[in-house]
Amino acid sequence: MSEQRFFRFLRERIGLDVESVGAPMVERALRQRCMAANAADLDDYWLHLQQSLDEQQALIEAVIVPETWFFRYPESFTALASLAHKRLAELAGARPLRLLSLPCSTGEEPYSLAMALLDAGVAPGAFLIDGMDISPSSVAKAVQAVYGRNAFRGSDLSFRERYFDAVEDGHQLHQRVREQVNLQVGNVLDPALASRDGLYDFVFCRNLLIYFDVPTQQRVFEVLKRLLHPQGVLFIGPAEGSLLARLGMRPLGVAQSFAYVRQEAAVAAPAPAPAPPVRRSLPPLATPAYPAASAPLPRPLRVLPTPARPAPAHAQKREEASELLASIARLANAGASEQARAECQRYLGQFAPAAQVYYWLGLLSDTEGDAQQALTHYRKALYLEPQHPEALVHLAALLAAQGDLAGARRLQERAARVGRESER
Ligand SMILES: C[S@@+](CC[C@H](N)C(=O)[O-])C[C@H]1O[C@@H](n2cnc3c(N)ncnc32)[C@H](O)[C@@H]1O
Repeated sequence: MSEQRFFRFLRERIGLDVESVGAPMVERALRQRCMAANAADLDDYWLHLQQSLDEQQALIEAVIVPETWFFRYPESFTALASLAHKRLAELAGARPLRLLSLPCSTGEEPYSLAMALLDAGVAPGAFLIDGMDISPSSVAKAVQAVYGRNAFRGSDLSFRERYFDAVEDGHQLHQRVREQVNLQVGNVLDPALASRDGLYDFVFCRNLLIYFDVPTQQRVFEVLKRLLHPQGVLFIGPAEGSLLARLGMRPLGVAQSFAYVRQEAAVAAPAPAPAPPVRRSLPPLATPAYPAASAPLPRPLRVLPTPARPAPAHAQKREEASELLASIARLANAGASEQARAECQRYLGQFAPAAQVYYWLGLLSDTEGDAQQALTHYRKALYLEPQHPEALVHLAALLAAQGDLAGARRLQERAARVGRESER
């Protein structure tokens, strides 16, 4: 197929596995760029692409997924805040903490790191954050630091009051946060990154590896591991952990933070991580928890179609169901697993089965180390709602941990497709 050479180009340049976002999406981007460049056909466009660095950049911009928001995966910021204090104590003023957000997209992630550390009382002079992304237009937006509604998700947006001013086209981030972050355009596959080996105490690389094939993921994990200081902590996205164990990294044991350390590193988790067979529990949060903006917040129920004029009894029942779901989310996010589980059972006794409830039951079993129960619950969630994004991602991680890499990959791909469709 004549598109194959473009797919190869994207794989070599940015690591993109076209399957992860779906060939139709990339084909659409190719058609757009062909038209914009006034190319007669794909052969003509290929020639143009070879000769123009600007066009190469434009094609890359057309296929990347810049989706991000402030305090995505809130638990990871809570974990960071307490780990940062520990690390600062170890460093005893020898140097500031160094953090890397790669990819940083339009800046929400590195700026969230800065706000989390400032909120935790870390002095501005005690930490430096680098943000890097392959997309110059995303980095330019990050430098501008003016954000619209999509950057603020979730119910608790109190950080917006503390760190932003309302301006005509959104919210402008305060200078004191911006100056903690050094932004630049860069490629995770660039060999020049080796000059920073061992530099970072904390590396955030989230929602990038899902777009790579397994060999590229492996290559990038090696890069990330080298960038980390031996005592450092790597934060990844929820679907991205399957390869890490094989590279000598282990989870830190903080639920939903997706934080990993080297096998040999003696970094203690901020919350106690009991040894098996003691049940792992959702950890109590020592430092202020950030708003659970990222999912796993309940989405609107799909059990009943909305009637044009809902009968009051139906409307009331739906409202009760969604309140109960919100309460399950709050309990689970706060580490109250027993109560969360009891509320799930109450839900199933009172209302029609909902994928979100089985997802929560799966997650609760997962964090307690009961993989078999977790599998069963996640599968039920997917039976009820085949595109349930979090169930897809977590089931994939479980399958990968059990060695079913092909099964895991299929689910990751499905999750990536769901993500893309919802973005569109
Ligand atoms: C979905 S965003 C993730 C942003 C943020 N880490 C988060 O989780 O919210 C993915 C980003 O990866 C960037 N990207 C894609 N390939 C890259 C590469 N090879 N090197 C650096 N950044 C890349 C894209 O430009 C895009 O901004």
